[in-house]
Amino acid sequence: MTITVIGTGFVGVVTAGVFAELGHQVYGLDIDQKKIASLNQGDLPFFEPELKELVLAGLQTKRLQFTTDYQVAIPDSQVIFVCVGTPSADSGAVDLTYVESALLEVAKYLIPEAIVVVKSTVPPGSFDHFAKIMQEVTKVPVALASAPEFLREGSAVSETRHPSRVVIGTTDDRVFTILRNLHQPLGAPILQISPASAQMGKYAANAYLATRITFINQIADLCQHNGADIEEVIKSMGFDPRIGNHFWYPGLGYGGSCFPKDVKELAYFSRTVGYGDNWFNSMQEFNEGRITRILDDVLVKVGGVDGQKIAVLGLSFKPNTDDTREAPALKVIPYLLQKGVAQIQVYDPQVQLSRTPFANHSEIDQVNQSTNIAQACQDADGIILLIEWPEIVEFEYSQIRNKSKNQWLLDARNQLDPQALSDAGFQYLSIGRTWNKSHE
Ligand code: UDX
Repeated sequence: MTITVIGTGFVGVVTAGVFAELGHQVYGLDIDQKKIASLNQGDLPFFEPELKELVLAGLQTKRLQFTTDYQVAIPDSQVIFVCVGTPSADSGAVDLTYVESALLEVAKYLIPEAIVVVKSTVPPGSFDHFAKIMQEVTKVPVALASAPEFLREGSAVSETRHPSRVVIGTTDDRVFTILRNLHQPLGAPILQISPASAQMGKYAANAYLATRITFINQIADLCQHNGADIEEVIKSMGFDPRIGNHFWYPGLGYGGSCFPKDVKELAYFSRTVGYGDNWFNSMQEFNEGRITRILDDVLVKVGGVDGQKIAVLGLSFKPNTDDTREAPALKVIPYLLQKGVAQIQVYDPQVQLSRTPFANHSEIDQVNQSTNIAQACQDADGIILLIEWPEIVEFEYSQIRNKSKNQWLLDARNQLDPQALSDAGFQYLSIGRTWNKSHE
């Protein structure tokens, strides 16, 4: 089968690579010429484990090619996946501009019987509008289906090869049969539901996962005040099969390209249908205010950071990605600068400070990138472990302990051994662990 995948972000490139691996002829299409030229050389515009190898293999077998040309790709394709971005507007409403312009281009060259599958996260009920605008451009009957994507950055390739489920939103049995056969080799349960349910299911899955994180963060905050230890609390809850202990670690709140945006959109949608007072509003507010609340508390415990040198470890929003969208560092660094720190040394295994939105900050001169963890932590008054990259978690912090000064370490992911850090002479701080209370 010939397939076009529109949009060469995480979802698009991974989808194109995996379908090429399954033996299909795949066009990866994007309007960004520079990106397409690099991809055709096997150079990725972002870091994602296993993806470079997957793309190179597809290019080598010539089953995968990247193009900017709708006129070449679409008339050749029986299935077209739309994987372009759907950012949030300030109101929280989703911005469908990129999806709409991709669909209008597709409509110009659509062949009869071709299926257009929207993987981009779009609000339930969008299909009537999409079909209408496409049908104004083409006489070919438009067959639209929804196939939401559930992959996680950092493990996108393996999760696309082995998805937990394939959800196909269509009421057309012909469309479902073709898409079921296409996805069958992935070995996952495949379900047919309505397009609106598929779209709502995607928002609901993300909002539920964000809810778990928000919930455990609130419990961790309570533990700070009642002598309980959040890690022990999680252990005790996890044995209940209805709860489990997965996706459950506390921290500075959820970030990334999906949870904040999808929760915001559900909050917006709830407001537009009359549910002004809704859970998603509260969750969004709690998550957004979390970093400031935690850092305010840390500052009280360490006696302020004025004039201090601080190491910030981890600039991405989570490990194994160079994506900085809604990354905690983007809030933590300006907060520290505002509180009067003299110098911030940052380290991240993949992210270059110069490529973050933070690069334009007026006080960027006070922020420097180190090439390794030891360099970043050298003579620091405070160390903040923001992201649990394996090398950041496995680093031996005792080796950089400067005994001539008091040093504090905030383990914002509860990853390190409190006893070992304390024995080394650090003031160890974490999220909701009893250690904070009994050893300060
Ligand atoms: C998420 C969903 O997991 C995925 O199904 C969807 O397709 C896209 O959004 P992703 O954003 O890549 O994937 O990352 P994920 O691993 O889910 O983490 C999201 C955020 O939650 C990160 O900031 C992470 O640090 C945080 N998180 C995750 C926690 O704070 N605690 C947890 O227990 C898990």
